[in-house]
Amino acid sequence: MTKVIKSFDEYKEVYQRSVEDPEGFWAEQAETFTWQKKWDKVVEWDFHNLDVKWFVNGKMNITENCLDRHLADRGDQTAILWEANDPKAPNKTYTYRQLYEAVNRTANALKANGIQKGDRVCFYMPMVPELAIAVLACARIGAVHSVVFAGFSASALADRIKDSECKMVICSDFNDRGAKHIPVKAVVDEAIALGCDSVKTVLVHQSTGDPLAFNSAIDKWWHEEVDHQSAECPAEQMDAEDMLFILYTSGSTGKPKGVVHTCGGYMVYTAYSFKNVFQYDDGDIYWCTADIGWITGHSYIVYGPLLAGATTVMFEGVPTYPDAARFWQTIEKLKVTHFYTAPTAIRALMAMGDQYTEGHDFSSLKVLGSVGEPINEEAWHWYQDKIGGGKLPIADTWWQTETGGILITPLAGVTPTIPSYATFPMPGVQPCLVDTNGVELEGDNVEGMLCIKYPWPSIIRTTYGDHERCKQTYFSTFPGKYFTGDGARRDHDGMYRIIGRVDDVINVSGHRIGTAEVENAINQHPQVVESAVVGYPHDIKGQGIYAYVIATGVISDEQQFIKEVLAVVTKVIGPIAKPDKIQVVTGLPKTRSGKIMRRILRKVAAGETDSLGDTSTLLNPEIVEEIKTGAK
Ligand code: WTA
Repeated sequence: MTKVIKSFDEYKEVYQRSVEDPEGFWAEQAETFTWQKKWDKVVEWDFHNLDVKWFVNGKMNITENCLDRHLADRGDQTAILWEANDPKAPNKTYTYRQLYEAVNRTANALKANGIQKGDRVCFYMPMVPELAIAVLACARIGAVHSVVFAGFSASALADRIKDSECKMVICSDFNDRGAKHIPVKAVVDEAIALGCDSVKTVLVHQSTGDPLAFNSAIDKWWHEEVDHQSAECPAEQMDAEDMLFILYTSGSTGKPKGVVHTCGGYMVYTAYSFKNVFQYDDGDIYWCTADIGWITGHSYIVYGPLLAGATTVMFEGVPTYPDAARFWQTIEKLKVTHFYTAPTAIRALMAMGDQYTEGHDFSSLKVLGSVGEPINEEAWHWYQDKIGGGKLPIADTWWQTETGGILITPLAGVTPTIPSYATFPMPGVQPCLVDTNGVELEGDNVEGMLCIKYPWPSIIRTTYGDHERCKQTYFSTFPGKYFTGDGARRDHDGMYRIIGRVDDVINVSGHRIGTAEVENAINQHPQVVESAVVGYPHDIKGQGIYAYVIATGVISDEQQFIKEVLAVVTKVIGPIAKPDKIQVVTGLPKTRSGKIMRRILRKVAAGETDSLGDTSTLLNPEIVEEIKTGAK
């Protein structure tokens, strides 16, 4: 088992060692796992040509480490503890043995439906246990899972299915989420109709059992395919560098990219970080409220906790159903010890008033976590005071889809914390700050762009089908370094504070939205000539989406037009990308070379119209007044 750091002095020692001897350090971590064949070399890397390999020629299967390895000692321990949307519905549990059997049955069903090692399987599924089971079933047989958050539109789903030519889609029939009854399979049908020719099978799990349109040519019922299968399925032998999964994420340009993670390094890093960040002990009940459609769910609901033999809670519902006490009731009911959520949820629940937190028993809690966006001081204090009894450690964990696991974070209860600081790097992680010329900023009390200068085991390997794009996006801005896209400060103690994105990515309620993607969607409205999308500070969401839109001719009914624009965005991407504010304008501020001056648009959106700076060099300075006057 992983050796867990227990004091800040020990952290400093281990960190020092991990930098001086990264190979020795990571070999030691990797040795705690089951390998079918040991690696020949710990790491080979080249950030210039982008070629990173961890545990070279090692052979393994991540599910043997999540499941088989635990059977002897914890076969009867709960692995997954499922809380349904309906608070009155009984909890469903899977022990490690039951999970092992369910995964193997599902793996056999995938094989029986022609899925082989290397094939891509797309998921469009709400938070039901079968999602985790089928994800692991893919890993069992070496198929590559690509989970798409089930809030994306049919068109966004189709883009993702096509990009990685998925052979199968796994979905639910419907989903009860909050007070809504959501048709899930119908969205898959719509996506398939958009020309997803690679899909041979749609495997439908009956979650609610409501009637639906069934196309017997490609649709198959989960219960008919899975239930009769054998509970034994040998784990495919995987190379450490074989692909484990693809997860699409937004960048500053173009379509979402399929971030690729591989088997060996991802396994070692998610397990190591889970154990150390959360300080999980046997018997603890760990709850991460993310959705498995995002990286947080992959690494810290499914893989990290199961690798560590933990009990991981999966929650189907939303924080405000039936009311804003749902999280707090559930902590009390399930005796949750570790609670990991996003600042946006904390701010939203904080705004509902303290009557929802009062009277709940939080005595089971030991550790709180935060992820996805900067946590402001007010939310940090409220979280610690109201939920953490004024004393529990908060791990403000900074990381990204591309990093696979948490990179900068306190180790709960071990690292000293300051509100809104992600504090120190994990062992094995070597961050640095650079200025716009790429010059590394030495010393403390500096602010710059956050890069990482040495690989860690779960670093992005490529973007699916387009290696060059991966190289360009992350490794070319500052040659020889991985560029995160975030700005950060390092204070007088060497602690990091993440400031936020320095590129055109907006972080809305902890979800990454590319401005270019939203613009592309808006521009599909027939009456839109051009649009520019920026983020602005939003009390609950962290950032809101502000869209400036130029329309053809005169818009007689602006409210109607705005409604239609919102509908187009919902159709093309999904409701999460809907602008909070839309301002119809006659022009956009442009430089003489025709580039939109986003700086000005961001200032106006933020209400900072007094500090626009010099606008006289613009091609069309007069437009600024109009935009200021019409600002929402
Ligand atoms: C932001 C989510 C401040 C950051 C795991 C990053 C954070 C982006 C934090 C990645 C944090 C994530 N403090 N900012 N603790 N955690 N971010 O890929 O801008 O969905 O680049 O991964 O979220 O978002 P992603």
